[in-house]
Amino acid sequence: MTAIDLDARLDPRELRNALGRFATGIAVVMAKDSEGPMGVTVNSFSAVSLDPPLILFCMARSLHSLERLEKAKAYSVNILLENQKEISNRFARAGEDKFADMPCADGRLGEPRLESAHAVFECVPYAHYDGGDHVIFVGRVVHMHTDGEGDPLLYYRGSYRLLASLMQDT
Ligand SMILES: Cc1cc2nc3c(=O)[nH]c(=O)nc-3n(C[C@H](O)[C@H](O)[C@H](O)COP(=O)(O)O)c2cc1C
Repeated sequence: MTAIDLDARLDPRELRNALGRFATGIAVVMAKDSEGPMGVTVNSFSAVSLDPPLILFCMARSLHSLERLEKAKAYSVNILLENQKEISNRFARAGEDKFADMPCADGRLGEPRLESAHAVFECVPYAHYDGGDHVIFVGRVVHMHTDGEGDPLLYYRGSYRLLASLMQDT
């Protein structure tokens, strides 16, 4: 067997393009502390476990709000609807006042949450893991809401997408 060369560099752009072939939904993670609210758009969300109820998402170490998010006592993960592209864009931009005129409510754990998301998972931190240039956040779901009906906002190969029809043989 030939040795695996872990130092061989993959081209980052090619890697990003290949990973972009995995279609995802989009979520906004929201939390708050004494400095105020914070929020970040993510497509690295995944279900982890039903018992205990766990979800995960990955945060880049370069995020301005990373340290504050790591210390947050609670956060909400808001799964976006197809008409919420502007919300996704707002929370994907660093530096601006992301919460100005945002339809937010107080979550039951004291964190901000979107009023009109497809689903909302209110979480307390369960674990943080090293994920290379990202930190893997695992949250324990304490409350959830599924009031926002409609189709989800999707992301594929660097662009927003709409859900197509159901496959015939499912
Ligand atoms: C569709 C989409 C998905 C994203 N997913 C992630 C993600 O999973 N993890 C991440 O760290 N940043 C992700 N980003 C980038 C962050 O949203 C962006 O860097 C962040 O809002 C900047 O926050 P800051 O003000 O704390 O630096 C994504 C951006 C977009 C547009």
